Amino acid sequence: MNNPGERHMLQITGAAKSYNGQTVFSGLNLAVEREQFTVLVGPSGCGKSTLFDGLTGAIGLDRGRISWNHEILTHLGHHAAYMQQKDLLLPWFSLMENALLPAKTGKQDMVQMEPVAQKLFVRLGLNGYESHYPHEISGGMRQRCALVRTLMFNRDLILLDEPLSALDAITRRSLQSLLLLLQTAFKKTLLMITHDIEEALLLGDEVYLFSSQPMRIKERFVLDQPKPRLFSDPGLLKIKRHMLEQLEGAL
Ligand SMILES: Nc1ncnc2c1ncn2[C@@H]1O[C@H](COP(=O)(O)OP(=O)(O)OP(=O)(O)O)[C@@H](O)[C@H]1O
Ligand SMILES: [Mg+2]
Repeated sequence: MNNPGERHMLQITGAAKSYNGQTVFSGLNLAVEREQFTVLVGPSGCGKSTLFDGLTGAIGLDRGRISWNHEILTHLGHHAAYMQQKDLLLPWFSLMENALLPAKTGKQDMVQMEPVAQKLFVRLGLNGYESHYPHEISGGMRQRCALVRTLMFNRDLILLDEPLSALDAITRRSLQSLLLLLQTAFKKTLLMITHDIEEALLLGDEVYLFSSQPMRIKERFVLDQPKPRLFSDPGLLKIKRHMLEQLEGAL
């Protein structure tokens, strides 16, 4: 039997960040288990994206210890793939060129990587748009292309900041299934921010509910219902009601 600490792939201890003297969060601790789907929910502006930016090194944290696989790091860097809230597609590159950027910068064999990207384009309903430029497609399509690019990094840990927020309900359902597949078939560890409580309950093994600023963990929910889940599950509906009450109280 492993030491219980070894199940934690990612551990964040005492994370702190302030902007202009205003504390966004301080003393924040969070642990993410290997191959688990962890979901973060909280009021708008509480500091969720700031936390992801700090974890990935997009910004510097004021304090905090990040450990990944028991290695202490200043940020996750190349250990994680990060899909930011803004899609950040490069406007002068086509969708396929954008999708292949991780392969290019990682000096991977492009001949091998293009069919992988092509498969993801089909899976995400972007086939036929490979040569289009970001300004020629809709917000939801840009989001899907950003998701392809994130997956092309092929990292064990994937951080997703509201990856499905610009999508219609049907596409969203299909991509939720894809995210579950990444967890179950590809053994990825996922950490995702969402405003959609139903999505959190359908996908999360653990859901953290944050308070408004300064952001702290208000409650942690452990969900052991088997997946794929149905939202009609009375247990999930009960948790949803409780979460909504807590979220209203968090504002
Ligand atoms: N570069 C910055 N300079 C100053 N303040 C900032 C900066 N970036 C973020 N903030 C502030 O930090 C706080 C947290 O912002 P953040 O984007 O992390 O919130 P969030 O929880 O992701 O919100 P949302 O759910 O709306 O995406 C906000 O008050 C925001 O104004
Ligand atoms: Mg955000």
